[in-house]
Amino acid sequence: MDPLKVYQYSNPGRLIFGPGALAELKKEFNVKDKPLIITDEGVARAGILKKVTDLLIEAGIRYELFDRVAADPSIEVFEEAAACYRQRGCTSLIALGGGSSIDVAKGVAIRATHEGTIKEYASGKPVEGVLPWICAIPTTAGTGSEATAVAVVFDPETKVKMVLKNSAVVPRVALLDPLLLASVPPKVAADTGADALAHAIESYLSLAGHMITDAIALSAIKMIMGNLPKFVANPQDVAAAGQMHLASCMAGLCFANVGLGLAHALAHPAGVYFHASHGLSCALYLPGVMEFNAPACPEKFVAIAEAAGRDVRGLSAEKAATEAIDAVRDLFAKVGLPRTLSEMGVEFRLEPKMVDDAFTSPPAKSNPRKAEPEQIAALFASVK
Ligand SMILES: [Fe+2]
Repeated sequence: MDPLKVYQYSNPGRLIFGPGALAELKKEFNVKDKPLIITDEGVARAGILKKVTDLLIEAGIRYELFDRVAADPSIEVFEEAAACYRQRGCTSLIALGGGSSIDVAKGVAIRATHEGTIKEYASGKPVEGVLPWICAIPTTAGTGSEATAVAVVFDPETKVKMVLKNSAVVPRVALLDPLLLASVPPKVAADTGADALAHAIESYLSLAGHMITDAIALSAIKMIMGNLPKFVANPQDVAAAGQMHLASCMAGLCFANVGLGLAHALAHPAGVYFHASHGLSCALYLPGVMEFNAPACPEKFVAIAEAAGRDVRGLSAEKAATEAIDAVRDLFAKVGLPRTLSEMGVEFRLEPKMVDDAFTSPPAKSNPRKAEPEQIAALFASVK
């Protein structure tokens, strides 16, 4: 952190966390409200939607349902959900699910009250006035979307994952209940955990990072390193699930403030062209990006290695950086994440547009070491 530079930090909305936190939902709404629940079919199948609707019914709160969110939601899904909100006379939003459902709720909050298209708002069109408020109930531990002003909107026409950023869409309250993570499949737990770790590490290394986000990010790294394998092995381990839920949220509020880095800059086009999940894409690129970044801020890698539980006393910063990167690789191997595209059965093909999209994306701007297009191409190819 540069003592002569100006930094900023905003808090997210209210966070309520711990086993049984979902029950607080009843206190957040009154009988005049009519929230639209935005979710996906998997959440309904897992019985989590019923837990939410039972609480609303008990409290006499009417609600409407939009359950057609899919991974990497496209412009069309955002617009469809917003039309549903308007047609059914809703007054607020419950975002129930992973990052995709929470992101869609953020877009709906804007489009429910504003003319134009979601694509225009994702391109920076300003938002005025008060938006419908959002109660976020994450059912995975990874995206941190409940703590951010950011939504990822996929544009199928340009094949770009656009980043909608507006402080008006930060959820007013988030209920982080580890009991809702009990049925997360191991693969999803590992995927989303890798995303959370990438958020924590990339925001810690961000050029906009400062003492507040550094402290939170390092704690999140420590919590993820210590708990992800236990959580993947048994999502019903309430202590591990609770730590992962909170760490993912903490990492979210760090990147909401100071941005991300190259692993995310590469992960977005990789998700589009290789059809890999976002978490998996982050897991593929994070270790290589750390190697690329280490010479730019070696002292930060010493702190990452320590947070990862490595004994780096007496080691040079360079050797400690290697320990930090090894710790990340070891963690990903332990939870069964692949190291290469070929392990995933995906054939590598580098489209020039992938390099352009990564090079011009916002996360590339906050990365601690500037990467030229050829270096980005080499990082893409490094996980063939
Ligand atoms: Fe991410």
